[in-house]
Amino acid sequence: MPEKELIIGKREIAKRIKELGAAITKDYEKGQLLVVGILNGAFVFMADLAREIKLEIEIDFVRVVSYGMGTVSGTLRFTKDIEVDIQGRDILIVEDIIDTGRTLALLKQSFEGRGAQSVRFCALLDKKERREIDVCVDYVGFEVQSGFLVGYGLDCREQFRNLPEIYQLKDV
Ligand code: IMP
Ligand code: MG
Repeated sequence: MPEKELIIGKREIAKRIKELGAAITKDYEKGQLLVVGILNGAFVFMADLAREIKLEIEIDFVRVVSYGMGTVSGTLRFTKDIEVDIQGRDILIVEDIIDTGRTLALLKQSFEGRGAQSVRFCALLDKKERREIDVCVDYVGFEVQSGFLVGYGLDCREQFRNLPEIYQLKDV
C-alpha cells in the first residue's frame, strides 16, 4: 500500500459541491441542460453534483481514449459515446481533474462539431499550473498542486477510486 496524505476531506468536498450545484442551477435556469460525465473518474463527483443541480437535467456519460497527446492536435476515440441527440443542446461536461486540458479541448471540439449549442466544463480539481491547452473551465471545485491525487473517483491504475476523500500519493 503506497503512503498517502489526506488533501481534501469529505465535508469540504460536500460543501464545495453544494456551491457548484447552486451556481450551475442559477446559470442554466432557462435551458434544458445535458450533463455529461467522463468515465471512469467522474462517476463519484457526477453522482453528488447531479443531486445538487436543482433543475430538470438529462444525464449521460462518455469514455474516451486520447491519442497523439504529445502533439498539438491529438485525437479522441470514444469507447463509449453519448447516446442522446446533442444537436442544439447546452452541454455541461463533468470531469474529475483537469491537467493538461487536452481531453476537454478535444471533447469540446467533438461536441461543437456535432451541433451542440454550448459546451461548458465543471471539474472537481484543477491542476492549473500544468495546463498546456488554454481551455476555460467554467466551474472548478478546488485548485490543486501538481502531485498525483487519488480517491473520490480518481485512480492510480484503477485503484483507490472508492476512497471517500482525496489523497496525494507519496513517491509517485
Ligand atoms: P488532461 O487531458 O491532461 O487534462 O487529463 C486529465 C485526465 O488525466 C483526468 O481525467 C485523469 O484521468 C488524469 N489525471 C490527471 N491528473 C491526475 C491525478 O492526479 N490523479 C488521477 N488521475 C489524473
Ligand atoms: Mg479521467
